Order: sequence, then C-alpha cells, then structure tokens
Amino acid sequence: MEWGMKNRLSRMIKKDGRCFFLPIDHGYFQGPTSCLEKPGETIAPLLPYSDALFVTRGVLRSCVPPDTTVPIILRVSGCTSVVGPGLENEALTTSIEEILRLNASAVGVSVFVGTQFEHQTLRNLAELVNSCEEYGIPVMAVTAVGKELEKRDSRYLALASRICAELGARVVKTYWCKDFEKITAGCPVPVVIAGGPACDTELEVFEFVHDGIQKGAIGVNLGRNVWKNAHPVPMIRALNAIIHGGAGPKEALELFEELKKAK
Ligand code: 5RP
Repeated sequence: MEWGMKNRLSRMIKKDGRCFFLPIDHGYFQGPTSCLEKPGETIAPLLPYSDALFVTRGVLRSCVPPDTTVPIILRVSGCTSVVGPGLENEALTTSIEEILRLNASAVGVSVFVGTQFEHQTLRNLAELVNSCEEYGIPVMAVTAVGKELEKRDSRYLALASRICAELGARVVKTYWCKDFEKITAGCPVPVVIAGGPACDTELEVFEFVHDGIQKGAIGVNLGRNVWKNAHPVPMIRALNAIIHGGAGPKEALELFEELKKAK
C-alpha cells in the first residue's frame, strides 16, 4: 500500500485498529433532518470524540471549521430524495479535483445491490475507486438498502459487502444484523457498522455495537443514535468505551448514566 493511502487510513482508523465515524450526511436525501438542522452546532461537542466525520461537500464548506483536525470522509454519491420515486438512482456528485481540493481523507459512496440500479451504483463505486486510488484516497462503500429495511439480513449484506470489497472499496460500511460474523468472514477489507433508525433504548445500541465488534467489525459509522439522543456527548463517549476501551454493553450503560449525571 502506498504511503499516502496508509497515512489517510491510519488517521481515521486508530492504532488499536478501531474507529468511530460520525455521519452527518443525511441531508443529502432527507433535507433538514431533525437534530441536524444546524450541523455545525450538532457536531461541535461531538468532534473531540470522533475519529472521522462523514459529510457532503456542501455542509463541509458551510458548517465545519476548516481548522478541524478530524479526518473528513466526503459523501460523494447522491442526486435522489425521500420525496422522489426512489433512493437507489444515485450518481457520483463530486469530482476527484474537488475531493483533493477539500483535503478529504476518504470518500463514501452508496451501492444498491439487488435493485434496478445495481449496475449503475456498482459502476459508481468502481469508477470512484479508479480515480481515488490514483491519489491514495480510500473509498468507503456503503451497502444501502433504501426504504427496504427488511433487506438487513446476513445473507444479503454479506453478498453486498463482498462485492464492494471485490470492486476495490478499502472499507465497507454495512448494517448490523444477526450472524454478523458471516459478513466479516466473507469480506476481505475492514467492516464498519452502520447505525440505522434510532433505537428505543441506549442499551440496545450498546448491545448491537458490542456484538458487531466481537464479530469482527472495526468500528461504527453511527449518527442518529448519537445526535438524536437527548445526551449525545455521554452517548458518544459510552460508545467509544466499547469501541476503543473494550467495555461491554452494561459497562457502557453505566458510563452513559454517570456522564449524564455529571453534566
Ligand atoms: C445513509 C448513510 C448515513 O451515513 C447512515 O445512515 C449513517 O447514519 P445513521 O447511524 O443515522 O443511520 O450512509 O446512507
């Protein structure tokens, strides 16, 4: 691996081999998502606990301080919306020149395997890998399911994740599901766990993150379950205790409750 690629990856994935990526890219198809109306305000207290920020160029330019030391994963696919006919018909949105200009540490692109836009979105991934590898920029592939949340089973996600790795993704982001080890066993590149809709309790979040890590994930890309929580900082710190500190779900909950009180 080239020095530049290694350097970018090692800024996002810490020495312990683990990572916490904070996504705030939801507006690219949802518009002003609740709790993310003013992204700059949402992320300010969370950045010190984030290993990377997943964001579009528009929000990066307007809401993220340019002196930040947190590595940027630029969301570079889009052009669909929740009020349109479907989320799957994505295009690449950002040129390689813009990716370089914005000093991105990595880029992220969604693929919709098994849909009528499978070919187009996998081609987006392959073409992005071709241009980014030229400059040592890692590509994170996102195995998206659009509105079909029931697709989140290990058979489907293992297939989609493996295809992303085969096409050259350096990291794959996929949903947690039962038998998560089947995904990591079949994917030759690091896997990070996506969040999904907000869970009912903090313990549920800690349990799925802990399970995924035990089963081979290197970390998470978790948004709504952090910044939609009434106590986002205790939440992100408790999650970091699982990811970087080896805590179990109950310990993480204890820490969350402690930090909540100490606020
Ligand atoms: C959408 C994305 C988002 O980054 C993803 O949804 C992660 O955020 P959350 O934890 O809120 O689901 O890639 O396709």
